[in-house]
Amino acid sequence: MRAVELIERKRDGGALSAAEIDFLVQGFTVGEIPDYQMSAFAMAVVLRGMTAKETAALTASMVASGERLDLSRFGRVVDKHSTGGVGDKTTLVVAPLVAACGAPVAKMSGRGLGFSGGTLDKLESFAGYRVDLTTAEFLTQLERTGIVVTGQTADLAPADGKLYALRDVTGTVPAIPLIASSIMSKKIAAGAQAVVLDVKVGSGAFMKERASAAALARTMVAIGVAHGLAVTCELTDMEQPLGMAVGNALEVKEAIAALRGEGPADLVRLVRLAGAEMLVRGRRARDVASALARIDRAIADGSGLAKLRELVAAQGGDARLVDEPSRLPVAPRVEVLRAAHTAYVAAIAADRVGLASVRLGAGREKKGDPIDLRTGILLRAKVGDRVERGAPYAEVHAAGRASDAEAIELVRAAVRWSGARVARRRLVLGRIASR
Ligand code: URA
Repeated sequence: MRAVELIERKRDGGALSAAEIDFLVQGFTVGEIPDYQMSAFAMAVVLRGMTAKETAALTASMVASGERLDLSRFGRVVDKHSTGGVGDKTTLVVAPLVAACGAPVAKMSGRGLGFSGGTLDKLESFAGYRVDLTTAEFLTQLERTGIVVTGQTADLAPADGKLYALRDVTGTVPAIPLIASSIMSKKIAAGAQAVVLDVKVGSGAFMKERASAAALARTMVAIGVAHGLAVTCELTDMEQPLGMAVGNALEVKEAIAALRGEGPADLVRLVRLAGAEMLVRGRRARDVASALARIDRAIADGSGLAKLRELVAAQGGDARLVDEPSRLPVAPRVEVLRAAHTAYVAAIAADRVGLASVRLGAGREKKGDPIDLRTGILLRAKVGDRVERGAPYAEVHAAGRASDAEAIELVRAAVRWSGARVARRRLVLGRIASR
């Protein structure tokens, strides 16, 4: 087999066999196929796509490039994943709630990049929190506490790690077969039997249109089914940020508030939806209604909050911060933006708010950049809210960077106003699921 012939065939719109795909993936992982050939192959996939069979084969090869955890001794382990957005702190709330309801949650999360935040960065707001657990530590903690949220170990789907880094710098991220296989290979390798995926749609997401998000969801469900996983994809709105807080420590505070029953309506809605689905998929609840009741109970009786405390402590973080969120990192300056006229909020462009958070230091321009846990944006109104003249609609939490002024302008420009009443945005746009 010669790599160049396989690249040419894909370039010309042909299909590759599972063995041919495996040859490329394994060769690339061990360094026998150079970056330039794999980049050319990825670009051919961007332009020509892949059949469902090819996508399943690509996923299987990426799983086979490293270890696959066997979590079967823990019963049915559920995972969740969001394709990423602005202000998406759902994992911080839903993982403890689901674990408090008795379903083991074993989650490998990522860091933020561009305007998408990352769960690991947010969790590091708890001083000392470790995101680099070894596989042995991962398993021991899951056994002891029923919840783990850590970074991906290097042994899991290493082909994906290498390929994703290449795609990031060669303009080959936006291809459904590549995104779907990348996400699902990590979920499969991490050993979950059920996965609840939140596919974000809108300006603050990878997928700008509902149709492409649905296509991604269908592809991921098909991959999951081919590997024996139960998969649910919810398609949810990312035209405006989720919740009110954008930025690491600010989002952690909002997540703690949600676990106390004081979260913003859209975040709570998503948490209940994803949490209930995780319980049903994990076979810990017989239907959605009873699952929702259990999630609500775990909020009301404080057991979800207790589970977050347990998680933070187990991974070396300062768990006292869960009860004293005012001691989480705080930005030194807060610029309050006020409405020039009484009006309704018509839009809050999630991408602009996300970009503003990057300018404030809360997100990173490129992989490996340091981030500032203290900074970000706190919205005081969402689409559909009426704001009186002179009342605040957003706060910009800044640390004195040269780009702060630009961030403030981005937040101002993100908000569109209307003199007439505006409907609230629909949060849940669809659902695609395996049986
Ligand atoms: N997230 C991933 O893990 N992989 C992709 O390709 C895109 C988003």
